[in-house]
Amino acid sequence: MVRHFLKDTDLTPAEQAQVLDLAASMKADRYGYKPLAGPQTAAVIFDKTSTRTRFSFHAGIAELGGNPLIVNPGEAQLGHKETISDTAKVISRMVSTIIWRTYAQAGLEEMAQHSRVPVINALSDDYHPCQILADLLTIREHKGQLAGLTMVYLGDAANNMANSYLLGGATAGMHVRIAGPDGYLPADSVIAEAQQRATETGGSILVTTDPDQALVGADVVITDTWVSMGQEDEKEARAQVFKPYTVTSEAMNKAADGAIFLHCLPAYRGYEVTAEVIDGPASVVFDEAENRLHAQKALMAFLLAESKLATDVRTALS
Ligand code: CP
Ligand code: NVA
Repeated sequence: MVRHFLKDTDLTPAEQAQVLDLAASMKADRYGYKPLAGPQTAAVIFDKTSTRTRFSFHAGIAELGGNPLIVNPGEAQLGHKETISDTAKVISRMVSTIIWRTYAQAGLEEMAQHSRVPVINALSDDYHPCQILADLLTIREHKGQLAGLTMVYLGDAANNMANSYLLGGATAGMHVRIAGPDGYLPADSVIAEAQQRATETGGSILVTTDPDQALVGADVVITDTWVSMGQEDEKEARAQVFKPYTVTSEAMNKAADGAIFLHCLPAYRGYEVTAEVIDGPASVVFDEAENRLHAQKALMAFLLAESKLATDVRTALS
C-alpha cells in the first residue's frame, strides 16, 4: 500500500517517533543515507510561494541521492488546464514522490487517491504537517522529550499551523493548548480528532480564548503569522483582532522557566511576536528552520520504505 502524509495523523504515534529518530540519525550523518539513489526524481510543486519548504526539499532530495524537480506556481498544467487526477496518473509514473504546496486539502486527497507514489503535504489551507515534524524534532533537541510537555500556540487558531499543532502534538503525547479570539478557533472536527489522539497517547487538548490561561506553565510557546497566504485582503482587520495574542516578553514570563519560543517563519516582528522575543535567548526558530531539512528527509525515506518503493534505505525501519 502506498503511504501518504497529508496531515499529521497519517503517522501513528509510533511511526511519528520512528521518523523523528531517523531524522536525528540523518542529521548526525547528513550525507550517509541514499534511498533516492538512481537518481530517482521527487517533484515539489508550489501553488503558493515558499523559502524554507523549497530550499529544504530541494537540498534534502539531493542529499538522499535523488533529483529534485521544483515546479513553481503556474508552471504546470495542473490547476488550470488539467485535472488533479490526470496529473497524478501521469507524474506518478515518472517520479518517486510528489510533494505539493496548495490551497484545498481536498486537492491533496485527490492527488493521493490517483498516485502510485507517496504524496506529501507541503502546506495546505488546513495543515502544515512537515513543519510540525521539524518543530517536534527541535523541541526534543532542546527539552529532551515530547510526551508530557505543554505546548502553547497563540494567535490565528483557525489556521493550518494551529490545526497541525493539535494533531501532531497530540500524536506526540503533548499537552497542546491553543488560544485565539472568538471566530478564529479550530474547527470542532479537528479538535475531536486531536482529542482522540491525545486519549491514545496520554496527551491533552485545551482550546481557549484566554492567552493567560494557555500560557501558565508552558514549556513551549509558539505563534504564526496572523495573515496566512491567501488572506492578504484581511490584513488590517486581523491586526486588530489578534493583538491581545502577541507573544511579548511579558507573555513569555507567564510560561515555565526555561520555556522556548518557536515560529515556523516567515515572521512579522511587531505583530504576532516582538523582536525582543524572536531575537532573544528563548528563541529556537533557526534550529527549527534547519530541522525542516532533516525531518523531511526522514519522512521521505520512511514513506518510500513503507510503500516498498525504496531500494537503499539504510535505516532502522525494519
Ligand atoms: N515555514 C515555512 O513553510 O516557510 P516557507 O513558506 O518559506 O516555505
Ligand atoms: N500560516 C502560514 C504558514 C506559512 C509557513 C500560511 O499559511 O501562510
